[in-house]
Amino acid sequence: MRDSVFFLGKGGVGKTTLSSALALALARHGKRVLVASLDPAHNLGDSLKVKLDGEPKNVEKNLDALEVNLAWWVDKYLEESREQLKLNYSYNMTLNLDSFFGILKYSPGTEEYAVLWAIEDIHSRLAPSYDFVVFDTPPTALSLRFLSMPTISGLWVAELTKLRERILKDRQTIVRLDPDSPVAKGTVDKSDDKVYGKLGSIRTRLAALEVLFSKHSFMNIVVNPDQLSMYEALRIKDELERLGIPLSALCLNKHGVSEAAYELPAELHHLPKFTYSFSRDGIFTRDDLVSIGIEPLMNHILSERKTTR
Ligand SMILES: Nc1ncnc2c1ncn2[C@@H]1O[C@H](COP(=O)(O)OP(=O)(O)O)[C@@H](O)[C@H]1O
Ligand SMILES: [Mg+2]
Repeated sequence: MRDSVFFLGKGGVGKTTLSSALALALARHGKRVLVASLDPAHNLGDSLKVKLDGEPKNVEKNLDALEVNLAWWVDKYLEESREQLKLNYSYNMTLNLDSFFGILKYSPGTEEYAVLWAIEDIHSRLAPSYDFVVFDTPPTALSLRFLSMPTISGLWVAELTKLRERILKDRQTIVRLDPDSPVAKGTVDKSDDKVYGKLGSIRTRLAALEVLFSKHSFMNIVVNPDQLSMYEALRIKDELERLGIPLSALCLNKHGVSEAAYELPAELHHLPKFTYSFSRDGIFTRDDLVSIGIEPLMNHILSERKTTR
């Protein structure tokens, strides 16, 4: 069942607005909905007029919302990695793990891993209580990085698994030739090798996220009537295509905001298109959000929901 929804696009195009509006409309339609912000600079709570934190808060009937605490997830990821390394390398006291982790905190990849494991947590722990989970996404660069993580890390883990298999095979050969070799004290068999087991569990988790993004999600691109947001949409489309993640719809938001001419790129013409007018009076209340005209997109999602691609 496809039950996760993402809005992607350039900063300011209306991702938070449309995420909130869709979540509200689905809830008012009788679906149980969780809307979760993955943006490190959260403003989902501002949009819904409720104070949010990392756990679901009730917004109104059928609708809960949360803002992922990214700093907490970064610390949790680092702490788990530290424990794991200490466990595996406890014999090697020359390795100064603490200074290594100080660097890791700021190394590329840490933030997207944190987002990824937060999504996994929402998907496995919270999603079963809801009909839909709507994700309010961070700026494009971070979104594309966390969406590509399962595929890229999956390749790494597959290579590391092969390497581990070779190490274990070599150990077996050594033990066969010399049963008294110190190698015999360590693990030689896949089934009781902790490293091999750990690689397997990471692979399973990454594969589940890959399936979530590519098969069980609605990926909507949001653009405004301006050329820059269209260029960004094209980059998102290309990247998702490379990852095998299909797009569900194109949302043209703030229609009529300016008289300037713009052209919808031909590469996006095939997508179902939903248009939202620029509201000159502003969007202040939850009713304002719903009256942006989100129903056609909601109906599209409801009718497509049972199709798993
Ligand atoms: N259709 C619209 N009409 C009027 N204002 C809009 C519309 N869509 C979004 N906005 C306003 O544009 C600003 C940016 O929207 P937001 O949803 O926060 O964008 P994003 O999440 O993509 O950065 C907000 O002030 C929001 O109220
Ligand atoms: Mg936003």
